[in-house]
Amino acid sequence: MRLDKCLEKAGLGSRKQIKTLLKSRQVTVDGMFATTGSQIVDPGLQVIEVGGEKVGLESAVYYLLHKPAGVVSAVSDATHQTVIDLIAEKDRRAGLYPIGRLDRDTEGLLLITNNGPLGFRMLHPKYHVDKVYEVEVNGFLSPDAVTFFKNGVEFLDGTVCQPAILEILSADISFSRARIRISEGKFHQVKKMFLAYGVKVTALKRIGFGHFVLEEELPVGAYRTLTEQEKQYIVEHFMKHKEK
Ligand code: URA
Repeated sequence: MRLDKCLEKAGLGSRKQIKTLLKSRQVTVDGMFATTGSQIVDPGLQVIEVGGEKVGLESAVYYLLHKPAGVVSAVSDATHQTVIDLIAEKDRRAGLYPIGRLDRDTEGLLLITNNGPLGFRMLHPKYHVDKVYEVEVNGFLSPDAVTFFKNGVEFLDGTVCQPAILEILSADISFSRARIRISEGKFHQVKKMFLAYGVKVTALKRIGFGHFVLEEELPVGAYRTLTEQEKQYIVEHFMKHKEK
């Protein structure tokens, strides 16, 4: 959350009073003076002090879910089970949401949090969060497919994708398997890229999202809390800069 919101929630005064506190260099985050309220912080992971006194607040939660096919990447849905429905009652918090979305028929790694601005940041091109998928297609992937994806796939509507790294795992006339690494998150991107090559995706699983990988041991439909180290990684890479 934003630092000014965090201080407001902790009862440190009105917006105006908090602005004054910040301007007068009375607020520190991990020992560094904070002068702008737009800085993103997590009081569970960082030490926030005002006039030398620690500010106490409940920290954000972070889960890594192995999303099953058939479940929607949404907070609520009238018809289908959502990824939030898969979170146990004891782990639910207000404001939980998935970072990005996977199609309903896509399986794999999805981060879930109630750290509001984090999703925007992790999905922003500036932060270069790569996504890795395992793909099955209904046709032959010849070695030239590697160059096709590397050159930046163009969709029928003229949209050009960033270069993608394709690794062919097996190739047969009516069934091939591959791993693909992309650096963006366009709508139905992987399926459309393979369609542009001339084959249809029949199964899609996300196995990597930036620093995070889907462990073999995490069953489909299960989730785990991020480790302290992983949370620290989030702080270091996504929460140390000012919101633009
Ligand atoms: N690309 C797709 O086509 N679908 C997904 O779910 C994710 C990436």
